Amino acid sequence: MLKAVRFFASMVIVLIGLLWAAAWMSATDGESVAESFARGTAAMFGYEMAAPSPGGVQLPQGLVLGGPFTLTDHTGRRVTEADFAGRFLLVYFGFTYCPDVCPTELGTIAAAVDALDGQADRVVPVFITVDPERDTQEAMADYVSRFHPRMVGLTGTEQQVAAAARAYRVFYAKVQRTDATDYLVDHSSFVYLVGPDGRVRALFRPDTTPDAIAQAIRGQLRGA
Ligand code: NI
Repeated sequence: MLKAVRFFASMVIVLIGLLWAAAWMSATDGESVAESFARGTAAMFGYEMAAPSPGGVQLPQGLVLGGPFTLTDHTGRRVTEADFAGRFLLVYFGFTYCPDVCPTELGTIAAAVDALDGQADRVVPVFITVDPERDTQEAMADYVSRFHPRMVGLTGTEQQVAAAARAYRVFYAKVQRTDATDYLVDHSSFVYLVGPDGRVRALFRPDTTPDAIAQAIRGQLRGA
């Protein structure tokens, strides 16, 4: 009798071990092994659980966003992704001359960070320009200070900005206005939640509310 109990117990332990190994191998990007384990175990008992979205737009499987960059911050300091290692970032690409979308989205980012209360310090709001020609260090310093006291503004050479945009698959293109001498910059408008490892954990469409973004960040902070 005791032998049978011991055998049964060891089989359960082996089974859990196998499930955990399977969960470890099938965990999607942004999903912890524990979450994957729960999903796998639920599936075994016939419950379908979708891979949990970390909030915002689900990243297609295998798509890696984010990566190394070298830029200059609004205080004139040269920075790379290593300067932010270990912290979460809320990143937005745009330009200071943007008439509407950029100011709205930066206001949203600032509000999302403030909504985190005691955990706000763990997240750095970052604005990266796609218009380095006009967005000098001084212009960036003035601009980011209007949105959040901790917001970091990043600019650089055309090549440095292009490389950063490429890492995040950001599209941008100058558009000359026929009625004016100045130009606008068309650009994609996602807000990126970057994890402490420099990889994008979640994407948010324009018009996502600060509360929804804060909610997604809280989920990520719990898992970090
Ligand atoms: Ni804009």
